[in-house]
Amino acid sequence: QKRKGKRLYYNVMDESRAFFEQNLWSEPGRAARQYLLEREIDEETARRFGLGYAPDAWQGLLDHLATKKMSPRLVERAGLAMPRSSGNGHYDRFRHRIVFPIVDIWDHTLGFGGRTIAANDEAPKYINSPETKFYTKGSELYGLHAAKRAIQKAGYALLVEGNFDVICLHSKGIETAVAPMGTAFTEEQARLLERYCERVVIAFDGDEAGEEATVRCLKSFAATKLEPLVIRFDELEDPDTFVRRRGASALFEKVENAQPLVAWALDRILRPAEGDNIDRKIAALQDVAELLDGINNTLIWEHYAQEVSRRLTIAPEFLKDYLRRPKQLASQARKAVLQSHRPLEIQAAEY
Ligand code: UTP
Ligand code: MN
Ligand code: MN
Ligand code: MN
Ligand code: MN
Repeated sequence: QKRKGKRLYYNVMDESRAFFEQNLWSEPGRAARQYLLEREIDEETARRFGLGYAPDAWQGLLDHLATKKMSPRLVERAGLAMPRSSGNGHYDRFRHRIVFPIVDIWDHTLGFGGRTIAANDEAPKYINSPETKFYTKGSELYGLHAAKRAIQKAGYALLVEGNFDVICLHSKGIETAVAPMGTAFTEEQARLLERYCERVVIAFDGDEAGEEATVRCLKSFAATKLEPLVIRFDELEDPDTFVRRRGASALFEKVENAQPLVAWALDRILRPAEGDNIDRKIAALQDVAELLDGINNTLIWEHYAQEVSRRLTIAPEFLKDYLRRPKQLASQARKAVLQSHRPLEIQAAEY
């Protein structure tokens, strides 16, 4: 029964994918092809990723699938149509968008992502098919099917934010890029990558959101053997714009100089806490404690603890005690500092 449901689901996905693709490469897809051209996506790459175009109509897909004896209810259950709120009938979820099939590592199409090509910003820029019985977002990585060989060969995967980052990088010869598709990077996704490589280079957008998403990757790697590294871009840049402006070699250079995720995260915590402000130091220590708590290797733990001691000029004995029992000691630390007026700073010579 479930097997039959699954086969039916795949059939709807395959028919939809063929319909979108057919639209992209014929008359209705003219504007979409022009859009891809402007983003420097060549035809070979577009075909490799099965890109398509959802026409500017309310029932384009529904009408097509009806000719294949697929009912609106079935299309709705597959996440590709919604019931109209007034009256009866259904309408297409994806309209006037570039569509990206989301495929698993066996190349089964599980769902779609869609980017508007409308010039105004009335429609949301990206929409995705909803999760279904057969599609869980956190279990898939966009582009992995196309990237897995290159990832295996390189020994690392490039983790980027968006569909266009993946496709643009591939079209520029960087075929190791995959993306979590608008959700947080999960441990399950890390496990997928673990089958193909040892390292993951996180290359999220240069903005604050990209920085925060990078930090949030930490816990997904904790239980894996993967070595997470980070590269960062200028505020307004993402891998797509960076590579188009500076070329693939500039990105490879960044990858060569990628920083370990923990070192990068630690630096991010310590930078605003260097100086004399004790409250900032105490606040930073809470974050440091949390970060180092995830490190099981004592040598590595020790290495980072020493860096904290040096940069925050806090005596190593106190620091280590604190890092092991941060919650109990947090208030004590404040009290000790305020009462004694004895600076926590120590001279470099003292250690
Ligand atoms: P971004 O917001 O970084 O995309 O989202 P972008 O770089 O501005 O998009 P372009 O370059 O103009 O096309 C990154 C990814 O997050 C998902 C999409 O998969 C997107 O590719 N996303 C983003 C969503 O799913 N929903 C959203 O509303 C926004
Ligand atoms: Mn954006
Ligand atoms: Mn972004
Ligand atoms: Mn982006
Ligand atoms: Mn972008």
